[in-house]
Amino acid sequence: MLAVEVEQLKKYYGDVHALDGVDLSIPLGGVYGLLGPNGAGKTTLVRILATLLKPTHGRARILGVDVTEDPGAIRRRIGLAGQSAAVDELLTGRENLEMVGRLYGFSRTEALRRADEVLERIDLADAANRTVKTYSGGMRRRLDLAASLVGHPELLLLDEPTTGLDPRSRQDLWDLIEELVDEGTTLLLTTQYLEEADRLARQLVVVDHGKVISRGTPDELKAQLGGDVLELHLEDPGKIRVVLEQLEGLGSAPATIDEKTGLISLTVGEDTGAVVEALRRLDRERVQLRDLSLRKPTLDDVFLTLTGHTAQTDEPEPTGRKARRRARSGDRS
Ligand SMILES: Nc1ncnc2c1ncn2[C@@H]1O[C@H](COP(=O)(O)OP(=O)(O)O)[C@@H](O)[C@H]1O
Ligand SMILES: [Mg+2]
Repeated sequence: MLAVEVEQLKKYYGDVHALDGVDLSIPLGGVYGLLGPNGAGKTTLVRILATLLKPTHGRARILGVDVTEDPGAIRRRIGLAGQSAAVDELLTGRENLEMVGRLYGFSRTEALRRADEVLERIDLADAANRTVKTYSGGMRRRLDLAASLVGHPELLLLDEPTTGLDPRSRQDLWDLIEELVDEGTTLLLTTQYLEEADRLARQLVVVDHGKVISRGTPDELKAQLGGDVLELHLEDPGKIRVVLEQLEGLGSAPATIDEKTGLISLTVGEDTGAVVEALRRLDRERVQLRDLSLRKPTLDDVFLTLTGHTAQTDEPEPTGRKARRRARSGDRS
């Protein structure tokens, strides 16, 4: 049995193709990562899998059950934690979890027992009797996750669980996710953080504009880029254009430039000759380097190469303020 089986799933909102023919199979156990920028379709997919939204077309089976056949049975076996904490501000942490337990149909005693067990495990026992409005952002997110654990789900759907969290709370959540995996829970986690996908997910699908654009292990995705990345920091940023011209044709993809820092990256693969040739050409043009390094590709490089824009951008187009863009010689004046 698979945890999730999705075939040609589509969800249209009028002209907007939120999902445009997605296929997925997620085995039981481990973390499966769904990586994509804002608007890629991640939440839409998660909500369909959680039986909260009906697909326009296609099929989805959760733990062997079709989402349209028996949504109730699915809901009892999965947990969902979303981006926005779905907890009641005016209740205490414990009361919130007790309520969730009652919704699952547990007796009051059983609901309280589970509430306390989950509070303990996500480190909120000390704050159990405080109203949620006194909780920090990180605590609310943990409580939301706790609510999804009350029913002891076989499959946990986490929709951008760490977006907006400070590094410390993010780390805590990652640790908890790893504990859950060790206990045998299957997790589907959406994220726009490449570092998070890299750290947690055994398998990844990359989505953009409602379509799967790549899939594999984090290492496989990085290997698609083929080997090392040469990074160059110029002494004189005015030379960027000359450098891009000189690098043309070298490496396995066009050089990219980070507009904020002026860092030029060239994927050279296993071809160390390309490194030597690049340096020879720059020397000939009397380009001075402040810094030079050769590093392994990151998922960020993968994403940029696949889509032309970074995953963590507010705008879907590569022209955004924060977006790095693929540099072609000639498009800087
Ligand atoms: N209820 C809706 N009505 C119309 N468009 C929607 C609705 N929900 C989502 N969309 C659109 O569908 C696309 C995918 O959205 P979403 O699944 O929320 O992406 P993500 O979670 O990856 O940011 C976006 O273009 C979004 O604007
Ligand atoms: Mg979303």
